[in-house]
Amino acid sequence: MDYPTIAKPGLDDFSVRPNLDRYDALRESFSWQELRRELDGLPGGGLNLAHEAIDRHAARRGDKVAMYWEGAGGEEEQYTFAQMRDLTNRFANVLRGLGIEKGDRVFIFMGRVPELYVAFFGILKAGAIAGPLFSAFGPDPVRDRLEDSGAKVLVVTPELRGRIAHILGDLPDLKHVIVVNKNGRSQDPLAPGDISYEEAMASASPDFDIVPTTEEDYSIMHYTSGTTGKPKGAVHAHLAALQHMATGRWALDLHEDDIYWCTADPGWVTGTSYGMSAPWTNGVSQVIYEGGFRASAWYQVIQKYGVTVWYTAPTAIRMLMKAGDDIPARYDLSTLRHTCSVGEPLNPEAVIWGEKVINNQPFHDNWWQTETGAILIANYPFQDIRPGSMGRPIPGVRTAIVDENGNEVEPGEEGDLAVQPGWPSMFRAYWRNQEMYDSKFKNGWYITGDRARMDSDGYFWFVGRADDVINTAGHLVGPFEVESALIEHPAVAEAGVIGKPDPVAMEVVKAFVSLHEGHEPTDRLRNEIMGFARQKLSAAVAPREIEIVDSLPKTRSGKIMRRLLKARELGLPEGDTSTLEED
Ligand code: PRX
Repeated sequence: MDYPTIAKPGLDDFSVRPNLDRYDALRESFSWQELRRELDGLPGGGLNLAHEAIDRHAARRGDKVAMYWEGAGGEEEQYTFAQMRDLTNRFANVLRGLGIEKGDRVFIFMGRVPELYVAFFGILKAGAIAGPLFSAFGPDPVRDRLEDSGAKVLVVTPELRGRIAHILGDLPDLKHVIVVNKNGRSQDPLAPGDISYEEAMASASPDFDIVPTTEEDYSIMHYTSGTTGKPKGAVHAHLAALQHMATGRWALDLHEDDIYWCTADPGWVTGTSYGMSAPWTNGVSQVIYEGGFRASAWYQVIQKYGVTVWYTAPTAIRMLMKAGDDIPARYDLSTLRHTCSVGEPLNPEAVIWGEKVINNQPFHDNWWQTETGAILIANYPFQDIRPGSMGRPIPGVRTAIVDENGNEVEPGEEGDLAVQPGWPSMFRAYWRNQEMYDSKFKNGWYITGDRARMDSDGYFWFVGRADDVINTAGHLVGPFEVESALIEHPAVAEAGVIGKPDPVAMEVVKAFVSLHEGHEPTDRLRNEIMGFARQKLSAAVAPREIEIVDSLPKTRSGKIMRRLLKARELGLPEGDTSTLEED
């Protein structure tokens, strides 16, 4: 079904005039070099994201609130840009005292508390690379990431430290564990050798000269899953700040007086690029809400803080829709003037629902990924929305649909979504995996791994993933990682993992397992395997469904055919089975 275009008013009829008010002309004249002049830079000529996001605003309007924090238990705290500058200086001093040097990896494993943000920018000031981890992870994903990155320091809360205590000894590069006991929430004593964040911060100086970094020095790394192998560390450079700032203006339409709320977890790239960098490089106040998802609590956050710009995700929107239209009606959402979504396909019904129920605001879908570091395709406030479309590329970026040889196809044709390399927030490497990095480029294009179409007006439409990566509630899950965890269970002989369509989470992880001889396929065993996977991986990544089968379809070379498992699950044609192993 085609959904009617949502027409936007004339520019003068917006309550706040959009930052991006023309498209074709700007695309033609735009230059990143010119916009680069709007960044301060470091005194010696370098660039550091922490300076652009914190210190430059602390110097000009230090008493402006950077962060309104609401804890899961209702605690409230506020931090001005000046306070953030001093705290992040202190943390940079703590790291320096531990011998952390430029380029070292410092990882963060904690929930959404202010100290996470302090640690993150303190790491950048120390010239180190910040690696935030999703706080719901179990021990396996944490170990994989710390091991691969060779992280020297881990910043963690007592609760999460307890979850992964048994893997810490497996990490020879990890020299220090800094434990953040937010507001004394934990009564447990520190483990021997651990450093108390609170004590270290109290004795650290609030003065620090940022370690000189260049715009190409590495700043942040996020691990992302592929079809095969372990997750890869996508590494970004300080220059990404430029694109965070620009897209914060164009796609999120951030203005000086906005109150902004990004619901993404800081362990994923949306949580750093748009839950830290984009609002703060623009000097905008943001709300950080520690609590989890509950429809009424979320609307309450908007009402209480007077949120004006909201960046969230399709699964969350679908859960809000499911919770019912009567709930938002009980809250004052009248401050909201622009709402955006990312991470999964945003169905047209969800776009339109926003317009009906959330203060007349249709959700503006946009597209990007860990590797792109920032928004590349967006629906802009001033531009009519074609519900179901991801929008058009941002100024300064060229995206296209290409065929298997990397040649552009005609409008309307499906192909690989590709980007012309050179945008500021492009990933600079997969950590110590040059071969994998190089494999992502073809005929002068970066190939994103997504299938899409472009219409004749240059709007992009998502079709699906080109690989087996599963997108469950906006989290990318690599089937191989889940399969590897499952086969560690003593009863499991083989495992094949697919994404199964789901009306809310888009896909859920489903596993097919065969058993070693001597094990019976009982419900009890199935539940046990499920619990085993959850404990190792996290509920967000572990299979939601497990089916025990006699054997798994494999190619003659022994590779499990996930494509066939999926086709059978969905009752679709099995396609080419000529390589299938005979039973
Ligand atoms: O498949 C696309 C999907 O999410 C992937 C990127 O996920 P990740 O690297 O975790 O980055 C999250 C930050 C956005 C993409 O390759 N995706 C992202 N946005 C959309 C989307 N799929 C459809 N529509 C979108 N707007």
